[in-house]
Amino acid sequence: MRQPRVFVTRLVPEAGLQLLRERCVVDVWPGELPPPRAELLAGTREADGLLALLTDPIDAALLDACPHLRVVSNMAVGYDNIDVAAATARGVLVGNTPDVLDETTADAAFALLLAAARRIPEALAYVQADRWQTWGPLLLLGRDVHHATLGIVGLGRIGQALAARARGFAMRIVYADPTRKPAVEARLGIEHMSFTELLHASDFISLHAPLTDATRGLFGATAFAQMQPTAILVNTARGPLVQTDALVAALRDGVIGGAALDVTDPEPLRADHPLLALPNCLVVPHIASASQQTRARMAVIAVRNILAGLRGASLPAGLNPAAQGTGRTATPSDYTLDESSQ
Ligand code: GLV
Repeated sequence: MRQPRVFVTRLVPEAGLQLLRERCVVDVWPGELPPPRAELLAGTREADGLLALLTDPIDAALLDACPHLRVVSNMAVGYDNIDVAAATARGVLVGNTPDVLDETTADAAFALLLAAARRIPEALAYVQADRWQTWGPLLLLGRDVHHATLGIVGLGRIGQALAARARGFAMRIVYADPTRKPAVEARLGIEHMSFTELLHASDFISLHAPLTDATRGLFGATAFAQMQPTAILVNTARGPLVQTDALVAALRDGVIGGAALDVTDPEPLRADHPLLALPNCLVVPHIASASQQTRARMAVIAVRNILAGLRGASLPAGLNPAAQGTGRTATPSDYTLDESSQ
């Protein structure tokens, strides 16, 4: 009997890799960029498990081309890169890495909000350009964050963690979410609103919804026209929630006040993109969960998902428990996994 084979699509924190290497034959894609499609297929073709990133499209064609594959674990909380229904139909288990990144991502969202409100990137550029001559009564005036209204779109775990931070700034906090959450409202002192009401009411709007058919393009010209002309949009969720061309126009024409984006559409954004020519737009390269501690925790959970899936057990963070013991995972494996693995 052989050891299970796992393909890892990029170098991930050692805390996770070590766990995996103790029990499996591990092949790590060595590139700094995601494996191109052909390399992704080649690496996964003989694999029993796949540790993927949000930059790897995992679709029905890939699942069919990799007949041994029993488990796909995304080292991310978002999983719009994976066709979960196709995996379920084939009995392939899918997992993600929720919870461990909530606080770190909320920290980043609040950092972006503060930076955009107080024009920190513009101020840094001003000093670096040697333009600082004196204290100026009208120099680089921003917007107050304290006592302003924060609108949270999508009140999941990260949205709630952001609300907890905003309370410390005495903000009024409102949220829009298809599911009303009265217990959370009471705990955090926040108000539910319709999406349209939130657009009108908010000084800052922060996005924390997953990318689905219902949320794709949620922020376009119509939404921007309903926002306050000074409002700042923060996106740490997924770029395609926002229609990029409409955002460029809204920022350029003063329809809204500013944007602070951790995620964009497309991603990556090239330096000559019109968004980057706008002084009221701050862009960082999809780093909201990028703390050393959180990325290590994400890697460990991603690996625990793989190890559980290879054993045919339910994943610690599984997205399709219905797939367990069906299709591909209903047939006995031809590898042995060290029993002490968990
Ligand atoms: C990052 O964007 C994630 O989904 O974890």
